[in-house]
Amino acid sequence: MRVLSGIQPTGEMHIGNYLGAVRNWVNLQEKEDCIFFIADLHALTGIYQSAEFPNMVLKKTIEILAAGIDPERSIIFPQSFVKEHTELCWILNTITPVAELERMTQYKEKSRKSSTNINAGLFDYPVLQAADILLYQTDAVPVGKDQVQHLELTKTIARKFNNKFGQTFKEPKALVLPAGAKIMSLTEPKKKMSKSDGPQNCLGLFDEPDVIQKKIMSATTDMGKTVKYDLIKKPGISNLLTIYSLFSGKTIKDIEKEFSDKGYAKFKKSLAELLITSLEPFRRKKKELENREVYVREIMSQGAKKAQVIAQATMQDVRKKIGLL
Ligand code: ADP
Ligand code: TRP
Repeated sequence: MRVLSGIQPTGEMHIGNYLGAVRNWVNLQEKEDCIFFIADLHALTGIYQSAEFPNMVLKKTIEILAAGIDPERSIIFPQSFVKEHTELCWILNTITPVAELERMTQYKEKSRKSSTNINAGLFDYPVLQAADILLYQTDAVPVGKDQVQHLELTKTIARKFNNKFGQTFKEPKALVLPAGAKIMSLTEPKKKMSKSDGPQNCLGLFDEPDVIQKKIMSATTDMGKTVKYDLIKKPGISNLLTIYSLFSGKTIKDIEKEFSDKGYAKFKKSLAELLITSLEPFRRKKKELENREVYVREIMSQGAKKAQVIAQATMQDVRKKIGLL
């Protein structure tokens, strides 16, 4: 099965991104044929500093490698290195109805939030995403729930192209993790952990021990003293229990038992220790890769070369089917 996913180079990876998405990629690469890329062209639709941008792409690649993506098993590259993404995007634009794009929730939300930067690229974002996916005859796309609508549009575009010009693209399916993998904010546990809500709400995958300690000890908890999973009455403690369970491999029931008469402070202290130990290999790998920039750049260009072989084969077929010389 061919698996493909992309991530934008913005912000630093937090444990929500890891537990909800990247950890799944790491597992999938054991058995499947995986392609992961840094969606740098998609990021151009937002506000960014051009001088800092190359560094952000490099940093995101390092973070993904440090999180466990193995360049021997998976293809990893920056999207803009493979020009076929934009070429196919243009062709798909010519069969995508504007009305379909106007329905996209992400576009509506982003244009509401940033009314000074509603560019055509933001509107066309889902078509570039469809091109990313269809270019590689992808079977499955591991994404968060928020991306399912874009996946549906990708299928619609593939079907439309196939009906009009003959069988060319596979229709991909979305691989969405079960609901348990939604990690909530440390400061406002009714909202999801998100890099756009500031550093205190997020636990970075690469945070240093003293930062982990501080963030966990000051995480918002709830009334009462018992460590018990209860999403309505104890959203804060429930979120910390979820994180504890996912990093320790213990069940929530067992953790509740272990801390039944110990109170919140002891539970948080133990969680901080667990996280300091569990995240240590990620910090170490990231530091090691930061000192090996040439090696990381080589991974990116080798990845792009491998990706391009697949992309070019699809484009040759597409060009012929639509009647380009
Ligand atoms: P953010 O909300 O921090 O900006 P992104 O939108 O860049 O994160 O998401 C990157 C990936 O991480 C997506 O696949 C998304 O579904 C996943 N993800 C983001 N936040 C969480 C979270 N709090 N819990 C689980 N998964 C998440
Ligand atoms: N739009 C995705 C996000 O915001 C990133 C992305 C770009 C992507 N192209 C993709 C994800 C192709 C999966 C497949 O998270």
